[in-house]
Amino acid sequence: MKRKEFLKTCGFGLVGLPFAASLLQSCGGIHYAAANENNGVITIAKSQFIINPQKPEKLREFVMVQSSRYKFPLCIYRTDSENYVTSLMRCTHRGCELNVGGGIYSCPCHGSEFTNDGTVMTGPADENLQTFTTNTDAEHITIYLS
Ligand code: FES
Repeated sequence: MKRKEFLKTCGFGLVGLPFAASLLQSCGGIHYAAANENNGVITIAKSQFIINPQKPEKLREFVMVQSSRYKFPLCIYRTDSENYVTSLMRCTHRGCELNVGGGIYSCPCHGSEFTNDGTVMTGPADENLQTFTTNTDAEHITIYLS
């Protein structure tokens, strides 16, 4: 490889590195919460939303849980400081598993999009996501599957 080509390649790599790092930092990864499931009721600790115990004020937007009742995961979305909406990650169009990020759910199959409370924003899906009653107390979030 010639010196000019080498510098060009390394230059693009160095320019792209900070962007990739900020992207990874902003998404923070998908966190599957430790959950208890008993007779159709799932309970998780609110502390599952804390990203770093050293900085407990910084919270995840959402966490995922897996239920024995569904093939698809459930997403518990923190819509504000005290409210959470739990949605099944199954597209209501033809049943593909949804992606979550950027404040919405999006379907990789045909492009439907849903708000973080499960409401259809963009078709072809024309039904909202299946959501579940979700209550909280000081320390826990409780999801009722039926
Ligand atoms: S299955 Fe999701 S848009 Fe078609």
